[in-house]
Amino acid sequence: MHRVTVEVDNNKCRNCGFCNQVNICRSPNQCIGCLSCYYACPYEARKIKTEETEEEYVEILVDNVRYRVPYPSSLKDALTRIGIIFDSPSTGRLSAPCNLGGCWACSVLVNGELERTCITPIEDGMRIELDTEDIEPLRIIHGPQPHKVGGKATPWWEVGYGYVEAAIWTAGCNLRCPQCQNYHVTYDNSSEAVTPREAAIMVTVCSRRYNTRGVAVSGGEPTLNKKWLLKFFQELRKLNPYKRLHLDSNGTILTREYVDELVESGCNNIGVEPKACRVETYMMITGLKDYDLAREYLENSWNILKYLVDQYSEKVYVGAGFAYNREWMTLEELEEIGDRIASIDQSLQVTVLDYFPSFRRRWLKRPTVNEILRVKQILEDKGLRTVIVQT
Ligand code: FES
Repeated sequence: MHRVTVEVDNNKCRNCGFCNQVNICRSPNQCIGCLSCYYACPYEARKIKTEETEEEYVEILVDNVRYRVPYPSSLKDALTRIGIIFDSPSTGRLSAPCNLGGCWACSVLVNGELERTCITPIEDGMRIELDTEDIEPLRIIHGPQPHKVGGKATPWWEVGYGYVEAAIWTAGCNLRCPQCQNYHVTYDNSSEAVTPREAAIMVTVCSRRYNTRGVAVSGGEPTLNKKWLLKFFQELRKLNPYKRLHLDSNGTILTREYVDELVESGCNNIGVEPKACRVETYMMITGLKDYDLAREYLENSWNILKYLVDQYSEKVYVGAGFAYNREWMTLEELEEIGDRIASIDQSLQVTVLDYFPSFRRRWLKRPTVNEILRVKQILEDKGLRTVIVQT
């Protein structure tokens, strides 16, 4: 049998403890090839190996039907093998968008408990139920914390008067940005997951304590678990009927229907981050290796930004985000970004993030103040009226 496994590269390992405390293996004695640790290691000290092994099988029970599946493997691989479909996360059906153990969109009932299929090793006699319709969804979150600056769609006029938002950050992401600014959240598969109502209560308490006008959810990528996110906004709206309820998203998997459902659920402030204009730049920023997938994600982010502005500018405060660093973006591309935003709406709030050294790009140089002011000028020269640059 052809098997993919991951092993530690001792020459690169710094014993940072990330794999013992944040992204923890569920099968330390027998690798199931889920690759979660491979993506999560901040020092890239994991190597993928393929090997030929003797075929071994175990039996699992899926919706009361017995199946013989190769062992060892992740539950997700076993289910895929017997024909269970992992769909797009925008459908709200069973999907596996992060493959890290953070988003819980891949979860099913395992021996009666909701559990993630992507990082769970199969065991002989395991009992699986696929229908989770009536089960409260779960997700790992960090926070809540009060925030003074907010995100790319936090209305600029609210910032600067103490705490502007109470925020939570969701684990799991479908991108693999090597300079991920929140990697301790994104790759967390070990913290206890919470229901939408629990998360809504926690962040509401924080909002009331710090008297914030907005409540926000960021990531990781919040949209990956649709069922959880829609319920979160519904709960949030019940608790905060007059507040600004803010979603910060990379925009990669949002569809028009998904946006409609978010707005219906109470979300009235959305930030989308296309990050770039050119596919090659987007791949550099996001760590995606598949050109077609990168192009699809990039175009989807731009299209959904336009849809939001065209359909919802009365109801939803919209902002756009970009990631500037001279390592990946030329001033010509910035001009292209300026033109593209101007063609959508010159008054759209645009935030340019000056990515700092983090995660796997600790050598990155933070843009200087002069550099970032030049970025602002270029975008303003394109007619954009609300350009915010973070320094
Ligand atoms: S795909 Fe399994 S937790 Fe996200």
